[in-house]
Amino acid sequence: MKKILFVCLGNICRSPSAEAVFNAMVAKDGLVKELQCDSAGTAAYHVGERADYRMRQFGLKRGYNLTSISRAFDPKSDFDQFDYIIGMDRQNVRDLQRMAGNEIDRKKIHLMTDFCIGKKYDSVPDPYYGGDAGFELVLDILEDACEGLIRKLQ
Ligand code: 4NP
Repeated sequence: MKKILFVCLGNICRSPSAEAVFNAMVAKDGLVKELQCDSAGTAAYHVGERADYRMRQFGLKRGYNLTSISRAFDPKSDFDQFDYIIGMDRQNVRDLQRMAGNEIDRKKIHLMTDFCIGKKYDSVPDPYYGGDAGFELVLDILEDACEGLIRKLQ
């Protein structure tokens, strides 16, 4: 069993979507017993909230049900609990690196777009203050990156 944690800033847009896309692909590929994931935010602004309404609507349109509740990344337990800790953008990765206690923790940190197989992006851009296209782009990038990630983990 490998455990993956997706991390963004607020844990209400990008990382809950990554969780939903990843889980849908894992179910389709029959890998539920091998791959498990969760998501968290580097900031605690939205702790206890459901995913952003817009993100949930755009997810549903593609068949993804965003069910997770926002929580903050916990360096005391998450570095030990997870094998891969994947930030959505470079700031997320920097924040995670700052919280890492040692080299073992640091080696678990990755950038989501490094798993892309078709698309060329260097981050999953934050859609929070933008329009509809930003939410579609998040899902486009995540579908590509999750496919690449699952291939790599198999
Ligand atoms: P996320 O998006 O990091 O993809 O969940 C954001 C959600 C909320 C805020 C920023 C980004 N915010 O500033 O409240």
